Amino acid sequence: MRKTRILFVASEAVPFASSGGLGDVIGSLPAALTAAGNEKLDVRVIMPFYGSMEESGEYKLTKLCETYINLSWRRQYLGIYTLEHRGVRYYFLDNEYYFKRPALYGSFDDGERYAFFCKAVMESLPIIDFFPDILHAHDWQSALTVIYLRRRYGLMDGYRDIKSVFTIHNIAYQGVYGHEILGDVFDLSPSDLEVVDYNGAINLMKGAIVCASAVSTVSPTYANEILFPTYSNGLHFVLEHNKGKLRGILNGIDTDYYNPETDREIFANYSAGDLQGKAEDKRQLQLLAGLEEREDVPLLAIISRLAGHKGIDLVMGMAERMLSGDVQLVVLGQGEHIYESFFKDLAARYPGKVCTMLTYDKALSKKIYAGADMFLMPSKSEPCGLAQMIASRYGTVPIVRETGGLFDSIRDIGWQGGGNGFTFAPYSDAELLGAVWRACYTYGDKAAWKELAEKVMRVDFSWQTSAKRYIDMYNDVLS
Ligand code: GLC
Repeated sequence: MRKTRILFVASEAVPFASSGGLGDVIGSLPAALTAAGNEKLDVRVIMPFYGSMEESGEYKLTKLCETYINLSWRRQYLGIYTLEHRGVRYYFLDNEYYFKRPALYGSFDDGERYAFFCKAVMESLPIIDFFPDILHAHDWQSALTVIYLRRRYGLMDGYRDIKSVFTIHNIAYQGVYGHEILGDVFDLSPSDLEVVDYNGAINLMKGAIVCASAVSTVSPTYANEILFPTYSNGLHFVLEHNKGKLRGILNGIDTDYYNPETDREIFANYSAGDLQGKAEDKRQLQLLAGLEEREDVPLLAIISRLAGHKGIDLVMGMAERMLSGDVQLVVLGQGEHIYESFFKDLAARYPGKVCTMLTYDKALSKKIYAGADMFLMPSKSEPCGLAQMIASRYGTVPIVRETGGLFDSIRDIGWQGGGNGFTFAPYSDAELLGAVWRACYTYGDKAAWKELAEKVMRVDFSWQTSAKRYIDMYNDVLS
């Protein structure tokens, strides 16, 4: 029997290049789908070949071809590389002019860079000899593939039967540009405005939502939230109109990569049945972070991009009151200047009690997940959020706001049947403080806390269930 072919189109994937949650998902979902698909799925990934990959020299790539493609009036080099990683085939599209840059995103010409990427994806299918049954594009950087498929390539042999799925990982980034570059950069024509135009501008995410056979986002609650103006960043009309093809599927995490029993990047290993190692991880973290070495004080962690929608202003509002109590705080992350300087200042004023590390470092983040007691994630909006799941896996109890995927993954211990964390709903620093105090109060009861930490560790955040939901979506699209 011929396998169902799925091609993931995305701008990042762990371990090759990643800036956040999207990379984690693209790095773990394809393997989970392959496993859940009982040999019936052939899932592959196509992404840009970034300069950082070349420099690392870590990967044994095979070059498939060198060619030139058109993007509007431009004629651009395209190299295609491939490799297999953990049973999944990856394709990397190379063009140094576009992708040999110090950072993945944030260039003045990101629109053109990802237009090139999308055009190159469409042109690559005959070369890699993989015409998928479903082209599964993620976020605005890949949105044009869905648009090109519907408006151009879908009329051509090979492409005709391809269906498309578009997944929104964060609706805050939509790829919005002026009409003047419609033809020049995006290689579209005025008639295509009927799908890409929104509020007087080109909106690539909107175009993909309109053109895709199905649309998904990364949690059921977020799928509902984005139908409303508070969360939709303006796209609620479009989503309401396309509600019939929208669904929310909660992300999972790679439970092998994040496994306190085997993780070599943490100081001591442990499991839900035996938490001894976690105490050692806490001691070592306190040492590393220059905090007082004390076993009995609750150690709170924040690992986050320091951005507005992560709810950092709530932390700013309650930090002093929180620190009037006997707690410790470790912050890891980078972002907006106002937040960075706040946490730097806080650490200076509370030596031994607060430690701020303004960087992004995976190995260090795991040491913090393992060594902390509680994990703060008071996001204003959160499509899914992975950090609360990773923290749970390491027995670090999440304190979260009830929004998006946080609501779908963490329930308050006060819920019927008991929960797996501490939650609050209104976006207020007093509410966050209240949740922290409740957690600290529970922490005071050693037996209760141990029981909670063990329970939290046992929650299944693997991809297993969600991979099945994706397969259901593919089947719906193909039926
Ligand atoms: C984005 C979202 C985050 C989600 C991730 C992966 O980074 O902000 O909530 O977990 O994508 O889907």
